[in-house]
Amino acid sequence: MNAKSFTVSRSGRRWLAGLSAVCLAALPGCSPVTSDELAPIASRHPPPPSSYPEQPVVSAPPDDGALKRVPGSAAAMTMTQIRNLNLAPDWYPSDHPPMPSVVSQGRKPDTFACGYCHYPNGQGRPENASLAGLSASYISQQMADFKSGQRKSSEPKMRAVALMVANAKAVTDEEVMISANYFASIPFKPWVRVVETDTVPKTSVSGFMLVPVAGGGMEPIGQRVIEVAEDLARTSVRDSRSGFVAYVPIGSIRKGEKLVNANARGATTSCVTCHGIGLKGQGDIPPLAGRSPSYSLRQLYDFQSGARAGKSSAAMREAVSTLTMDDMVSIVAYSASLAP
Ligand code: HEC
Ligand code: HEC
Repeated sequence: MNAKSFTVSRSGRRWLAGLSAVCLAALPGCSPVTSDELAPIASRHPPPPSSYPEQPVVSAPPDDGALKRVPGSAAAMTMTQIRNLNLAPDWYPSDHPPMPSVVSQGRKPDTFACGYCHYPNGQGRPENASLAGLSASYISQQMADFKSGQRKSSEPKMRAVALMVANAKAVTDEEVMISANYFASIPFKPWVRVVETDTVPKTSVSGFMLVPVAGGGMEPIGQRVIEVAEDLARTSVRDSRSGFVAYVPIGSIRKGEKLVNANARGATTSCVTCHGIGLKGQGDIPPLAGRSPSYSLRQLYDFQSGARAGKSSAAMREAVSTLTMDDMVSIVAYSASLAP
């Protein structure tokens, strides 16, 4: 967390209640928060590590030179090719329209290929985002918010987001328009299988995401979403047809459904009123159905902490201001379980 999060929003201050003594003493812009105001909030909680995977700085294992393949594709690539951020691995060219160069290559040395991180079909990964099916103007607005510094991460150590921000700062308006139109034109397909469970495999961070620790056994899920590749071998070569499985606490989907449809915790408007029936989105209000729950949880948390405070974020900051961590976990378990 950074010092900014103490000052940017009231809710940001509330979840830091445990630190309010520090806040009051040391930081300008921190006004006293009474215990009454704090009472309904149970999410005095640091950023949940399972939604903010911190990639350790390690050198990638050397390329053994072998050609990798994936089912249903005629392509073959070495790991060196697969790791090239200026050439998105495109296993299935027929799955998407022809990529403009900003998506397939980026522009050396300033920007990486959008399609590298978000995949050529825009399906994305938990540590980034699914862009397929978002509206072009929503995408452009987010690029502007990243660029202006109004959208950042509650966890500055999360390198994936730092890379996105750097990319957004370097792209031109024309590149934004072209890439936004490209991803908006692709329908988002089912991508995440949501499973309620008590126990999950022990995980660590590798390749910017959670992976089960080999021989690590199981542990209680607690109040977490644990999202891992459905097939790690395919995801590690960036196979854009191989999705994810998200483990969520037992009972969370039903709890989330209630929160989303009611005016959760005294909010003035329910989530479905804005995000549409089945959370499929409407107009420039983004769809949530079937999208990565670890991504969605990161966003809810970022709105609450004030790290995401872009031009159209006011409604969201209000909507999440009283949600607890348990509420947020339940909401994203439900939204991810819906058909896109
Ligand atoms: C190095 C990897 C990387 C590259 C390259 C990259 N992104 Fe991202 N992108 C991310 C990450 C990580 C996030 C998640 C940010 C967060 O959690 O707040 C993200 C989020 C986004 C979002 C927000 C989605 C939403 O639902 O609000 C948009 C829009 C986006 N990227 C567009 C682009 C475009 C367009 C390009 C190319 C011009 C691009 N990205 C290139 C990593 C990348
Ligand atoms: C008054 C309208 C409104 C209400 C109510 C609302 N939202 Fe939103 N939501 C938005 C808008 C607008 C955005 C885009 C914000 C931005 O551009 O920063 C958004 C963004 C989001 C995002 C980020 C999506 C992405 O792709 O990054 C999530 C997750 C989300 N909302 C969940 C919820 C949940 C859960 C609720 C109910 C607790 C809710 N919203 C209630 C309007 C609303």
